[in-house]
Amino acid sequence: MPSQWKLHKPLVSLAFPYVVAALNNGVGVKPAMGWNPYNAFACAATEAMYHTQAQSVVSLGLLAVGYQYINLDCGWQATSRDSAGKFQWSNKTLPAGVPALATFVHNLGLKFGVYTDLGVFACDTVGGTAHFIGSLGHETSDVASYASWGADYVKVDNCFAVNSTDFVDFDPPISIKDHFTTMRDALAAAGRPILFSACEWGVQDPARWPGGSVANSWRISNDIGPPNSWDNIFRIMNQVVPITGFAAPGGFNDLDMLEVGNSGLTTAEQQTHFAFWAAAKSPLIISTDLTKASTQTLNILKNTRIIALNQDSLGKSIAFKRRYTNDHDVWSGPLSDGSTVALVINWQDSSRSLTFNLADVGFSSATATDLITGTSLGKITQTLAAHGSIVLKLTNAITAPTPTFTFYPAASGALAGGAITRVVNSSLTVVGFVGNGGTLTLSNVDGGASGGTKLLSFDYINGDVTFSNTACSNCRNTLVSVNGGTAVQVQMPISAQSWDILLSGYMVSLPGFKPGKTNTITLSNPSAFTPDFYRVGVAV
Ligand SMILES: *[C@@H]1O[C@H](CO)[C@@H](O)[C@H](O)[C@H]1NC(C)=O
Ligand SMILES: *[C@@H]1O[C@H](CO)[C@@H](O)[C@H](O)[C@H]1NC(C)=O
Ligand SMILES: *[C@@H]1O[C@H](CO)[C@@H](O)[C@H](O)[C@H]1NC(C)=O
Repeated sequence: MPSQWKLHKPLVSLAFPYVVAALNNGVGVKPAMGWNPYNAFACAATEAMYHTQAQSVVSLGLLAVGYQYINLDCGWQATSRDSAGKFQWSNKTLPAGVPALATFVHNLGLKFGVYTDLGVFACDTVGGTAHFIGSLGHETSDVASYASWGADYVKVDNCFAVNSTDFVDFDPPISIKDHFTTMRDALAAAGRPILFSACEWGVQDPARWPGGSVANSWRISNDIGPPNSWDNIFRIMNQVVPITGFAAPGGFNDLDMLEVGNSGLTTAEQQTHFAFWAAAKSPLIISTDLTKASTQTLNILKNTRIIALNQDSLGKSIAFKRRYTNDHDVWSGPLSDGSTVALVINWQDSSRSLTFNLADVGFSSATATDLITGTSLGKITQTLAAHGSIVLKLTNAITAPTPTFTFYPAASGALAGGAITRVVNSSLTVVGFVGNGGTLTLSNVDGGASGGTKLLSFDYINGDVTFSNTACSNCRNTLVSVNGGTAVQVQMPISAQSWDILLSGYMVSLPGFKPGKTNTITLSNPSAFTPDFYRVGVAV
């Protein structure tokens, strides 16, 4: 069965530009910063460990640079409610109880977060058939308990959301939004400002939920780990591409808790991970054992120039600008002082010299400061470690002229080998089933007076979202051949989680054009499907 046109529920079409309405509950105006045990300790954190880690946040100077929440994760709950139906903690995990832990945390000058699940049960099992308590159907009562215990933050997970046997459902047959709006309303009635961190794993595209943000942050993807790996970082970066525009003060895309300090990523990869999360306005929740944190770990986590990107009052995320497939990515976004942050990621598996092309973020000239080291740069060429990155603050920027394109509609190309047109709506027809034998060839393409290398701009739909790592996680590869020459691999991230929203302006420079209007461009992939194409622009 062709899976490429599978529609994910619910189908929500949004007109661009984005209309962003954030949750106005007085907290979470900036992305949350704090500590949570999960990536280091899974569900096994104890009261003593929470004490030690909270003390470390203070003594290591992490509170001083903004990390303020100490959050419970799985494992703290009881397996049953009390006789009045109230939420209970585990006396084994937290012998002194949650209010005492909240007081301990508050007395350190920190804020305190609890964790629950909007399902029949919480995610983890206790052993045998026993489960920790879920909050589904008990939202108001549970939130009242958390508020009375001193909670400032609630992370809400999504296990067993459908029924008592459906553990994790990435395509649930119910509206998950309804669960989370019930929780939002319960929190609004709690009589205490509580930051709402929704952990729905992005299964029903919460960034696009109609009516504005339901939570102060929403997870956009499946867990970052375990195991901790660069592939997970790549999967999550691709998944945020279509929704960066939904980040705003009070409501942010949550790319999941940090893996900085944990084994599985090199120092350069951890640096890239941290800078990307910060500039994408994700919550920055440390999730490593701080009693063992190295100087390198602390240097990454305490870089105040990178943290300032995250906490910038404008609250806008970096956006995807350009991918040089298997070589480097360029992302950028605006800051409140009128400057621009540009982030360049080295995809190569080895150290290399990389020259950042300012035109990729729309500028012909700018003054650049390296935000990892704080030094002013005369030139924008740097040596980058494998999977390392350049993070630049650009000021005094001069806007570059925007290229003009001649567009060739995909539907008017020659289709072969199974490629067919698909009507998306009354104004949009695309070509699908390109790849796996299907090809799309555009003819009579204008190479201009001199031919040579041309800038191409693709408008496409790719709704092939994934919750686990694949060969191209949350992306699809297209092989592009000019005039029958050697095909070039182009890796295209998802345009949405459904098959009806375009990604416009994916740029690639390709050589091999002849002067005049006799060029052809062929799109294919011998072993996988490509995105569905709307049109290809060729720079005039
Ligand atoms: C924890 O201990 C308290 C005090 O003894 C008790 O009231 C409560 O029921 C216990 N909770 C659980 C889940 O056993
Ligand atoms: C639970 O939900 C799943 C997924 O919708 C369904 O396949 C299964 O039959 C349900 N089980 C029960 C006991 O309702
Ligand atoms: C068709 O879909 C495109 C892409 O999502 C959208 O921009 C456009 O507004 C839609 N047009 C109509 C008439 O619905």
